[in-house]
Amino acid sequence: MTKKFNEIYQNSIKNPEEFWLEASDNIFWFKKPSKILNKSNPPFYKWFEDGVTNTCYNALDIHIDQGNGKRTALLYDSPITGNKNKFSYEQLKSKVSKFAGALNSQGVSKGDRVIIYMPMIPEAVIAMLACARIGAIHSVVFGGFASNELASRIDDSKAKILVTASCGFEPGRTVEYKPLVDEAIKQAKHKIDKMILFQRPGHEVTLNAPKEVSWEEIVSNAKETDCVEMNSNEFAYILYTSGTTGTPKGIVRDIGGHIVALKWTMKNIYNINEGDIWWSASDIGWIVGHSYIVYAPLFKGCTTVLFEGKPVGTPDAGAFWKIISDYKVKSLFTAPTAFRAIKKEDPEGKFFSKYDLSKFESLFLAGERADPDTIKWAENLLKVPVIDHWWQTETSWAISSNCTGIEMMKTKYGSACKAVPGYDVKVIKSDKTLAKPNEMGDIVVKLPLPPGTFPTLWRADQRYKENYMSSYEGYYQTYDAGHIDEDGYIWIMSRTDDIINVAGHRLSTGAIEEVLSEHQSVAECAVLGIADKLKGQLPIGLVVLKAGVDKDNKIISKECVKMVRDKIGPVAAFKVVIVIKRLPKTRSGKILRGTIRKIADNVEYKMPPTIDDPTILSEIKQDLIKNNILKNE
Ligand code: COA
Ligand code: AMP
Repeated sequence: MTKKFNEIYQNSIKNPEEFWLEASDNIFWFKKPSKILNKSNPPFYKWFEDGVTNTCYNALDIHIDQGNGKRTALLYDSPITGNKNKFSYEQLKSKVSKFAGALNSQGVSKGDRVIIYMPMIPEAVIAMLACARIGAIHSVVFGGFASNELASRIDDSKAKILVTASCGFEPGRTVEYKPLVDEAIKQAKHKIDKMILFQRPGHEVTLNAPKEVSWEEIVSNAKETDCVEMNSNEFAYILYTSGTTGTPKGIVRDIGGHIVALKWTMKNIYNINEGDIWWSASDIGWIVGHSYIVYAPLFKGCTTVLFEGKPVGTPDAGAFWKIISDYKVKSLFTAPTAFRAIKKEDPEGKFFSKYDLSKFESLFLAGERADPDTIKWAENLLKVPVIDHWWQTETSWAISSNCTGIEMMKTKYGSACKAVPGYDVKVIKSDKTLAKPNEMGDIVVKLPLPPGTFPTLWRADQRYKENYMSSYEGYYQTYDAGHIDEDGYIWIMSRTDDIINVAGHRLSTGAIEEVLSEHQSVAECAVLGIADKLKGQLPIGLVVLKAGVDKDNKIISKECVKMVRDKIGPVAAFKVVIVIKRLPKTRSGKILRGTIRKIADNVEYKMPPTIDDPTILSEIKQDLIKNNILKNE
């Protein structure tokens, strides 16, 4: 049944260079690459080494050259502000090349870093593409991160310029960006040259010239600028993601491989053609937003929807159906949590029945495990295929998926389908041998990774090698665990590090622990991701106080919650801290986080043989019951 897919897949694994050479023919090159893959220095592989191209040219100019300049490139819809707008490829190119000129006028040139900290407005997309146009490396920071996180990204990237807006809108509150940015600039050791701020109408803020300039002002004096020729292995962007400590990892994307791979995915994975209307309901601050709000749909010449809203509360649980119906969206890509939120508010789909979704063909889910109940609920309601696919910030595109543009495969609920062409996925057991079908282990990908994946970490080659490429020689360690079944379907079960997934957002429990440890009354702590019906996981903190502290526990909990919100940001969704007497540990002093998590999730657990004092576990259980985390049965 999957003959065509199997043939293409096998070919991509056996002859990767031929496979990606063919795909590379579909993009614009100033100079075509003569070398497809340089394997001389593993694990650092180079795709299309001597090719010369430009990301922005492939996103915009190419479509105008091909006579499609009048086609709509971007549809913007903001249910909170009531604003809507649309841009043809020609109009978007004009805005982008003007802002590129403005960046130039502020001293930004090829290789400089530009931080973009913005809400979901067209100017954010324009800023990203403008950087690409002049060869500057953008680093977009999600608006839900606090100043401290923004400061660490300014420091690590050594950005020259920061682009922001006066505010963003969350349901029920306005997020004032300027004070957050001011604080980040104050905290950062590296000093940026300038802040460019887009004044949202009706929410203008005061700027302190000459270091702070308004978007409108610099654009009004700018000249349109052409695309700069870029070597394939220069970097398009840095996207920081949670690592196992508080120091985020700068995932970098090189230029040629990114364009080739992402363009290939639109047809082959998503069955999307030139001119189709595509919507990714994510945020440009995440990898899904980078790849599937901005780059891939524009490389393919589609119309992409930019939605500044939420699945519920903007204004109701019909918001997604309205967008799909108003813009005749063909396919939607979002995180399962968005559908769980809609299902919670409107389980019978009453809002759904008000809209015409006759043009809608498929729903793609990723970012966290898609639970079978949610998939089945969505299938019943939408009557279209609902496809779970698995990927990571590191890869920028799906590692496993139903490749609907090649051949539709059957759904196995709970599995993220098969490895996508380009990825040779294996499972390795704890004894370091390859697993047989259905045996659990670490999920790894045989090197080299395909184009578009991360060639290294920003200025951290050694960290790249040690973190990802050293556990199993010749393999990339995904830090996901699971199994592959007898039909080649991949089942992602859990992370093997301390990353948790909260509403499709990737967070490090280690980073939250670092913040809690800074509280002056806290002696030690553990942060766990516990199961949550809406967000998949939610972090909770357990803290042990220093001897002699006699402050009210409730005050300490509140202070801890506030510290995490202030240091990491509201996105951590960190609301629960429980003061406990002691933490369960092994005799060698390791905190038994896995066991506590099982107790909190009310699933069976074995008494760890190495535990120093088994009575602590029943104490913790009582504490969780007292704090309504666990029901008393
Ligand atoms: N700027 C500032 N704050 C933000 C923000 C942003 N861009 N995005 C989220 N936040 C804030 C929220 O307002 C909330 O703050 P609060 O504690 O004051 O209420 C907090 O961060 C947590 O946000 P979130 O986890 O998104 O929870 P929510 O209750 O606001 O919304 C969902 C829940 C399910 C509706 C929402 O997570 C969602 O739409 N998810 C869709 C999936 C998605 O986008 N995934 C991204 C990867 S694909
Ligand atoms: P991020 O880098 O933020 O995209 O998060 C990547 C992580 O999200 C992966 O390593 C997985 O743990 C999880 N993830 C993403 N997609 C899926 C999926 N379809 N099924 C299960 N887990 C997923």
